[in-house]
Amino acid sequence: MLLANTHEGWSARFQTDYCYIQPSPGTYPYQYFWDTCLHVFILTALDEHGLAMKNILSLFAMQEDDGFVGHMLFWSRPLPAKWTDFFQGKPSRSLLRPHMSALIQPPLVAQTVQRIYDGTHDQEFLKAILPKLKKYFDWLERNRDVDGDGLLSIVSPFESGMDWKPTFDQVVGFEHGVANRWLFWRVVSVDARNFLHRYNLDTLYRKNHFRVKEVASTTIYAQNLTAMADLCDILGDPDATRYRDRGRKVMDAMIEQMYEAESAAFYDIYTRSKRKIRVVTPTILFPLVIRDMPREIGDALVDRHVFSDGEFAAPYPIPSVATNDPSFDPGPSEYLWRGPTWVFSNWFVYQCLYYRDYHEQAELLRQTILKLIRQSGFREYYDPFTGEGYGARDFTWSGLVVDMLNIDGGSANDPS
Ligand code: GLC
Repeated sequence: MLLANTHEGWSARFQTDYCYIQPSPGTYPYQYFWDTCLHVFILTALDEHGLAMKNILSLFAMQEDDGFVGHMLFWSRPLPAKWTDFFQGKPSRSLLRPHMSALIQPPLVAQTVQRIYDGTHDQEFLKAILPKLKKYFDWLERNRDVDGDGLLSIVSPFESGMDWKPTFDQVVGFEHGVANRWLFWRVVSVDARNFLHRYNLDTLYRKNHFRVKEVASTTIYAQNLTAMADLCDILGDPDATRYRDRGRKVMDAMIEQMYEAESAAFYDIYTRSKRKIRVVTPTILFPLVIRDMPREIGDALVDRHVFSDGEFAAPYPIPSVATNDPSFDPGPSEYLWRGPTWVFSNWFVYQCLYYRDYHEQAELLRQTILKLIRQSGFREYYDPFTGEGYGARDFTWSGLVVDMLNIDGGSANDPS
């Protein structure tokens, strides 16, 4: 499926070959930032390191001088697939030329380069890509760490990669509940306003239409700063210390500002007021993946929330929002991440649990994904009660299952 969804060509504008994988040919035709990273996790699990490198090099081919890389790269398909995509780029007179969006997505990319290096020990590739990664992570620090505390701010719900995540309802002015057209207009108006302000971050921060420090993006930022430090170490780059210290600082700030001991959960917070948004989605568990996260926090999260009734318990866990949340809707919907089970969440939480020795719970997530794929194929998301597949078809992320099978080495060959 990954090979069938691969697109290669020559870009005259950027004077480069390009190669990327469409997450789903009909529904998602571009190169997307975090999708590319997920593809690399799958490709490296399948020993396809050459293709993985080409995907990463293409991802950085349009990097701006200041380090920025957008979340959608249009390559040979410059016209937006959806009219709403139009607001996710800066206004430009050259709409028909290949370009990229003005949004970010969770920065998984240093880990992907680490994966490629672990599988190839290719120093030349690392030397070529590390300066670009450094520029990218330094851009994030300069532009998205608004308060200098280490936590990243996002300026659109779509920057979380979990587009209609119910946490954002109150931020965009939608009364928390099952999604409807009003939510659509509220969220699109965030992007439209950002567009009108030409994605000038100073203006956006001043206007404060949508500024959230989101748990998943920040967790991934912390993980990837540590990965940056490891990559720098390999090449003897002294910036290793700077990235390692920063990763630690992000984790400390997450504990201080996002963690609530009483409910044992990490919550998204408003950037300006630091107010917690108490909506239970799988991301309340994500910071567990950070290796230095204190054990007692990890235990509290797992004891309280993993598969607890009324929250994440379901025949096919993990639902993308707690089943007792007013926004929960298990069926197909254009409003993504508001109920169904996504392979991504299981893959992420699997790692949280596996590396903390909660093997039994981790295994349940892995078996769930295997069952879902066997029963309903490679779909974008699945009904947590019936296992029915919905959304995009031939959806590449489901391939993360091969990475889950590889993690403990043994079960990839399990004939069951
Ligand atoms: C959906 C997902 C987003 C992803 C995109 C392409 O919008 O929510 O995370 O990047 O599709 O697959």
